[in-house]
Amino acid sequence: MKNLNDIDSLPPEQAEVALTRLEAIKAQRAVENALAHYVPYPRQQQFHNAGATHRERLLIAANQSGKSLAGGMECAVHATGRYPDWWRGRRFDKPTIGWGAGTTNETTRDTVQRILVGRSGQPGTGAIPKDAILELVSARGTPDLLDSIKIGHVSGGVSVIGLKSYQRGRESFQGETLDYLWFDEEPPADIFTEGLTRTNVNQGPVWVTFTPLLGMSETVRRFLLEKSPDRDVTTMTLDDVEHFTAEEKAKIAASYSAHEREARTKGVPTLGSGRIFPVAEEMLACEQHDFPRYWPRIGG
Ligand SMILES: Nc1ncnc2c1ncn2[C@@H]1O[C@H](COP(=O)(O)OP(=O)(O)O)[C@@H](O)[C@H]1O
Ligand SMILES: [Mg+2]
Repeated sequence: MKNLNDIDSLPPEQAEVALTRLEAIKAQRAVENALAHYVPYPRQQQFHNAGATHRERLLIAANQSGKSLAGGMECAVHATGRYPDWWRGRRFDKPTIGWGAGTTNETTRDTVQRILVGRSGQPGTGAIPKDAILELVSARGTPDLLDSIKIGHVSGGVSVIGLKSYQRGRESFQGETLDYLWFDEEPPADIFTEGLTRTNVNQGPVWVTFTPLLGMSETVRRFLLEKSPDRDVTTMTLDDVEHFTAEEKAKIAASYSAHEREARTKGVPTLGSGRIFPVAEEMLACEQHDFPRYWPRIGG
């Protein structure tokens, strides 16, 4: 079939085959341009919007709720310059240099890298549209891990996203001047500070996406308790997402033990038994961030 009009003259069975093929092509194109098809949930939209007015952002949310997806999509828009119509967040009008960072080399490959460019062997099926990927530069030491991604920007220039892991220590976060930085999963405090320093020159945005399984760590404390006009916190629970049915959400919640359920399904920092978190601070955090309904009652 050379011409689309020819479809009229095809026998029914062949027309059926052609239609199935067209559907498959359409689906593959969508997978290879996920950015154009990304419709953020209200909480994700709120998180992106906050970038226009706050330099440091935290999306503190449930497991599997769309934290990494939102974090990676934000990298993809700044790297390509393809800001969607609905975009109200921070904007760059030139190619950018940024980093995406995860916990270990392996988790960085399996989360940050997968979200940005797709699984190993399926490049171009992540947040960065396939037609914008210019080069995938391999890292050494860890199979399939990338060191960086070169991306075509709408201006005609080239953007770069480097991949980093906390495993490699604070020293590996030194040196570069960056436009932005994405921390997926909670960074140690010294790495967060080092990362923030990389964006000082341009006062670039830094965003962090995680489920708070480490309790009231320094990073959680910084965002929840140390108020600053530069800092924004967006919470997102399983109730805020649409990719699970109510039944699935209930099943997921039931699968967690009581002490981790609040963190894993609602993004509320787990206090654990050996908590070091003073009651007054707990109350304050509770009042300031959408958590009151969820926060574990003090003293049971
Ligand atoms: N805005 C959205 N629209 C549709 N599906 C979404 C959206 N955000 C997240 N998801 C779905 O949720 C899944 C988990 O997202 P991910 O960001 O990996 O979760 P996590 O919060 O654990 O980092 C995605 O693979 C996707 O299927
Ligand atoms: Mg994730």
